[in-house]
Amino acid sequence: MEDRTIQNFILQRIDAAGEVDSLTILAEIQQVSQQIKDHQALYQYLLSLQALGIIALEGLSDKRLEITPEGELYRERGSPEFIFGQVVAEHPELDRAQVTELYQQRLLEIFGENPLIDRKTLATAALGKAKQMGYIKMDKSGIHPGTIEADQTRDLLNNISELPPKIANDLKKRNMLQLVTVKWFKITKGEKFVNDMSLYKKPVVELTEEMMRSGEWQNVEFAPLNFEALGQRIPCGHQHPLMRVRQEFRQIFMQMGFEEMDTSNYLESSFWNFDSLFQGQQHPCRDLHDTFFIKDPELSNPIADQEYFEHVKKTHQTGGFGSIGLRYKFDEKIPLTNILRTHTTAVSSRYLKKIADEFKATGQIRPRKFFSIDRVYRNETADATHLSEFFQIEGFCLGQGYSLVDLMNHIQSFFSRIGMAEVEFRPTYNPYTEPSMEIYAFNPQKGQWLEVGNSGMFRPEMIYPMGIPEDWNVIAWGLSLERPTMIEYELKEIRKLEGPEVLLDMIDNLPICRITF
Ligand code: PHE
Repeated sequence: MEDRTIQNFILQRIDAAGEVDSLTILAEIQQVSQQIKDHQALYQYLLSLQALGIIALEGLSDKRLEITPEGELYRERGSPEFIFGQVVAEHPELDRAQVTELYQQRLLEIFGENPLIDRKTLATAALGKAKQMGYIKMDKSGIHPGTIEADQTRDLLNNISELPPKIANDLKKRNMLQLVTVKWFKITKGEKFVNDMSLYKKPVVELTEEMMRSGEWQNVEFAPLNFEALGQRIPCGHQHPLMRVRQEFRQIFMQMGFEEMDTSNYLESSFWNFDSLFQGQQHPCRDLHDTFFIKDPELSNPIADQEYFEHVKKTHQTGGFGSIGLRYKFDEKIPLTNILRTHTTAVSSRYLKKIADEFKATGQIRPRKFFSIDRVYRNETADATHLSEFFQIEGFCLGQGYSLVDLMNHIQSFFSRIGMAEVEFRPTYNPYTEPSMEIYAFNPQKGQWLEVGNSGMFRPEMIYPMGIPEDWNVIAWGLSLERPTMIEYELKEIRKLEGPEVLLDMIDNLPICRITF
């Protein structure tokens, strides 16, 4: 039978009866064609007719008794007890042990080696059952033939639709019957019902330019659009959540007119990381506890601009620009020690020096804004919120006559763009900024103020030895990328965000980033 014929067969049955169940149709089709092997095969036809709106399906299910494979063997070849009765009838002279042995041989002849037939167990069970059925009789003198006319169990198996529950239960216990769930459909006419597929007009899926030009669109029926359909998931790589949030921050900085700094030097000299930032050589953060030192190469090349180097040294020792300095003996070797940068402020320092050099060469300087988002390293013990490496978001603005109010304004407008409309400042200490302020933002979800960043105005002792003109100054701030990412994606453990515990599934399934706080 062709597909079309099968479809029409189904349709004509429904047309005639108004409603048919799929099991009935299956049986009818199977009488005329071998093509539909089972209900599943019919289901495919029904589904496609349903998708076209030609028929409607209602799923139904019921529990039914079915013969087990073991039961099927007895139905075909005889029940164990009946066979037992037969053996006794044929050999009334044998004693019980002999009957049992002969019976087992007979089972082997009838059923062959079959894992479903456990001959030993059957031998005992069949004896009891044969007695119960009257196929055999037993007394002190031994086993004798009884009345053996019909195999009653076999008759029951041949007619399982009408079994009394007690008997059905018994056969179930004997593993001859089982209860199975049968699923089928009630099939009725659909909205677009036709009783022959040749009458079905396929709805048009696509509106083409030709249809518009010729006006044909007015005569065709369009397939409805499925607005519920989900797009197919594209098998592709997924961005790590930190990278998604970084991209968002990058966008915000860009919108505010910031230029991105090149932060590709993870290895840095102590000079740019500490000394150029007016951090005294005895400052505790330089200790082994906080800084990773590099063994090989242990030292960097001498700082290219020796004049600047001398100026930094002098400022540390004796000050300048209104400062009395840090007043200690500056060790010229310490700045050359190589380290993994502990903050990206080292990069800001390099950029400011470059701007100062340009000013020196050209006599020109203009307000500039820079940002970076990249890794920094600190020798900290890892816990739920700390790792020994993390991403730092850093921004600075160079301008003329900036005041504390400008700093607060800039920071306020930056943080409001990342969803933190309410910020507060608390005074703090940084070696390279004065004044310095911690930034707190109110998290409405948690109902509390959280520290979200650190900020300040770069000290004169840091920027003027570089050659930045003295009526210019710099406001700067920094924060971690991990913290807002964890808030955004509701992650409690930083180790689930970075490192070997990160689950690829988590990365695949996270939604896109829309920074909110
Ligand atoms: N570098 C600082 C830190 O590591 C952040 C910061 C940058 C502070 C700029 C003030 C100004 O926390």
